[in-house]
Amino acid sequence: MGGGIAQVVAASGRRVSLHDAAPGAVERGLEGMRKSLGKLAEKGGPGPDEVLARVQPVDDLAPADLLIEAVVEDAAVKEEIFRRADAVLPDGAILASNTSSIAITSLAAVTGRPERVIGMHFFNPVPVLALVEVIRGLQTSDETAAAVVELAEDLGKTPAEARDFPGFVSNRILMPFINEAVYALLEGVAEPEAIDTIAKLGFAHPMGPLALADLIGLDTCVAIMEVLHAGFGDPKYAPCPLLRQYVQAGRLGRKSGRGFYGYKSF
Ligand code: CAA
Repeated sequence: MGGGIAQVVAASGRRVSLHDAAPGAVERGLEGMRKSLGKLAEKGGPGPDEVLARVQPVDDLAPADLLIEAVVEDAAVKEEIFRRADAVLPDGAILASNTSSIAITSLAAVTGRPERVIGMHFFNPVPVLALVEVIRGLQTSDETAAAVVELAEDLGKTPAEARDFPGFVSNRILMPFINEAVYALLEGVAEPEAIDTIAKLGFAHPMGPLALADLIGLDTCVAIMEVLHAGFGDPKYAPCPLLRQYVQAGRLGRKSGRGFYGYKSF
């Protein structure tokens, strides 16, 4: 998602520094951006070269007016980034997280600027989906929230504000839906294709819950369910054992080439 976010920010005319600790990840991100920008250019979007010229790969966190963190859904990893960002970015900078479920309030608490920490949650594929869920931590200031709402609008997105409760709004609704679909599969109620067809045609969803889980990443789905489970203490949020088993097997969805379905290129 980091590549998609960098793409929409650069397409809005802003300069972006792009960093990923994993070797080759920035290159893969740039490749994905070029492909996506190529599709959008056919529909009148800006040229890929022009947009990519504003994206600068960097070896480490770099000073900027805004950080948008989009790393793995692991609180300890995110907290470490927020600690370092607090030291590297200028005092007035906003530190935003694209987290799907981790508490903004706890990320804010590891920094010396909790009033300038906020959730800026994009949706996959970022260049296509219009929503940005804006999540205020307990101490996020009105000024920070207003700046992020204004930015989201300027990126051509529609912001919607939510409070900092487990899963916010989006994943409190989406993840139990996906988890229940996996239970239906586990219990042999239907084959994956039938489950997805029922959701696609019955509810007019663009894709079924199992295909969507493959798009999101099954490891991410488990991580989000665990946050809901721990945060609410309600067993209804426990990740389905089959979902866990797929993750144990390395079947993570599109990114690993196999999840509920197989994928040729990833
Ligand atoms: N960049 C640019 N354009 C893209 C693109 C990308 N990355 N991906 C798709 N498109 C374009 C295609 O070129 C195509 O354009 P045309 O209509 O002009 O041909 C259009 O989008 C539709 O794509 P496709 O024809 O390939 O396939 P589709 O109609 O099935 O759409 C989809 C693909 C956009 C992914 C659609 O299925 C969809 O919206 N699915 C639901 C996705 C969703 O729910 N995402 C949210 C996940 S939750 C999340 O991200 C956050 C979280 O916290 C877990």
